[in-house]
Amino acid sequence: MPVTIVVSNRKGGTGKTTVSVNMAAELAALGRRVLLVDLDSQSHCAVGLGIKISKDTPTVHDIFRNANSSLSAAVRQTVFNNLALAPADPLFEHGEGDRDGERLKKALTEHEITSNFDVVILDTPPSHDNLLLNALTAANWVVVPFLPHPLAGEGARQLMRVLFKIISGPNQQLKLAGFLPMMANENIRIHRKTTSDVEHQFGASRMLPVIRSDIRLAEAFGAGKPIRYYAPKSRGAEDFAQLGNLMAKLC
Ligand SMILES: Nc1ncnc2c1ncn2[C@@H]1O[C@H](COP(=O)(O)OP(=O)(O)OP(=O)(O)O)[C@@H](O)[C@H]1O
Ligand SMILES: [Mg+2]
Repeated sequence: MPVTIVVSNRKGGTGKTTVSVNMAAELAALGRRVLLVDLDSQSHCAVGLGIKISKDTPTVHDIFRNANSSLSAAVRQTVFNNLALAPADPLFEHGEGDRDGERLKKALTEHEITSNFDVVILDTPPSHDNLLLNALTAANWVVVPFLPHPLAGEGARQLMRVLFKIISGPNQQLKLAGFLPMMANENIRIHRKTTSDVEHQFGASRMLPVIRSDIRLAEAFGAGKPIRYYAPKSRGAEDFAQLGNLMAKLC
């Protein structure tokens, strides 16, 4: 079975999609066969990988509308070695679809998925809904990107409560890979303070190495390329390479 990593934070704009796309690209470059699954109907993973979606494109959201749909029908190779995408449906409405919390977990056991991939990365929407429940139920590891601003601690606490519910209910194998400070700048006092508060509260072993603020990461997205291909010498590429090496130990 592939190792499944969910990237989650209910708060919007914390860098979930940037982490999903770039972590997927790093693990793929390290030789893992990676499937990136975009559960967010904003459909930004396709943008970040330079893929155009038309209204007839099969998507991961088909499995939530129809129990007979397969996830593998939505999988498409990208131009990047070892990296495939199951794109999101931009027309999927929040709250649409069946209530089944295990639909994704079942879909990930399809033979075409288990035999073709070593790692599955799940990008999630900034909401607490059935799609997030599906993602947390299907995953082995959760990565929580957060902005080092004062509300981050509360967001982390809320997420921990959700994780405890999942771990004591539908998915006892779910583990926290760590909190990931995003867009951090060590010259900004509130960034240093918030990051150290989260570390103090949850423990140093639950912190992942910082992804510094780097406008090249935003540009790479616009260019439809992971940062390692768009600006290989940038700060962002350096930070994601470090994160990739660390995550590779889990899968
Ligand atoms: N380290 C960084 N430095 C500079 N800009 C960044 C960095 N990480 C992400 N960004 C930019 O911040 C914005 C939000 O990032 P992203 O879309 O990844 O967040 P998200 O959590 O997926 O958002 P949403 O909740 O809407 O899905 C994007 O414009 C992205 O390019
Ligand atoms: Mg996103």
